[in-house]
Amino acid sequence: MRAASRAVRHSGKRLGLVPTMGALHEGHLSLVRSARASTDVVAVSIFVNPTQFGPNEDLAKYPRSFDRDCELLDREGVSFLFAPAVEEMYPAGSSATWVTVDDLSSKLDGRSRPGHFRGVTTVVAKLFHIVEPDAAFFGQKDAAQVAIIRRMVRDLDLPVEIVVGPIVREPDGLAMSSRNTYLDPQQRKQALVLNRSLREIEKLAQAGESSAANLLAAGREEFASETAVRLDYFEIVDPGTLDPITDVSRGALVAVAAYVGPTRLIDNILLNRTP
Ligand code: PAJ
Repeated sequence: MRAASRAVRHSGKRLGLVPTMGALHEGHLSLVRSARASTDVVAVSIFVNPTQFGPNEDLAKYPRSFDRDCELLDREGVSFLFAPAVEEMYPAGSSATWVTVDDLSSKLDGRSRPGHFRGVTTVVAKLFHIVEPDAAFFGQKDAAQVAIIRRMVRDLDLPVEIVVGPIVREPDGLAMSSRNTYLDPQQRKQALVLNRSLREIEKLAQAGESSAANLLAAGREEFASETAVRLDYFEIVDPGTLDPITDVSRGALVAVAAYVGPTRLIDNILLNRTP
């Protein structure tokens, strides 16, 4: 992979990398298209990274659809697919060396999934070193992941540009996720409460409400009507530091995570600074 990517860059071309765990959907493909539009050659990685899953999480049953993924990537004009085996990425079984972004990694998803972001930053750092892309493409769907990777790149002076793409949704508003395949038809309907609560907050903010406490109360209210869905967190934070903020008029990230049955889903919206 490294030899191929160096050959690309030695020929004066810009290389883009889209890191994924496979089970590809339109969210992933939107990042591929963005990479195609702003770089010359695109590499996609597919690696279900064990170090970012907790002991009671869904590593074993995480959806895998490798052949279909290959077809989709072919159709999108992707030049390189890097799909290493677990033993190739972690020959010693796991890693003795970790990349940890202090502080940020214990916020939002990091609070409910201890160790998750350490696994993400370690594998993304490894992928950056193997592929050596000029630019790497991530989705706003994982807003905390974006903040943490940006911070890692800045702190370690990694020579890669981070490009973030918007959340791609199903027609009814549900944010696309490989984990949506876990939902049965009833849960699929219940899952809409995540997006519904965010839209409610967005509407109120656009109408002039700037108190984070009031906005969160309105968002939580939506969840009260969907008793089968258990809220994990609902927060309004600074998109860079992930620290809670009390007033949204200078812009904010509204992030929610909830369990629909056993399936943990996340969603978020960015509120713009009010003029
Ligand atoms: P994965 O969940 O496969 O997601 C790969 C990339 O696709 C991430 O940047 C994610 O934010 C983006 N993505 C997922 N759903 C999206 C949607 N609905 N709209 C837009 N983008 C979306 O995130 C990971 O894998 C892993 O943590 C990884 C970065 C690959 C490290 O293992």
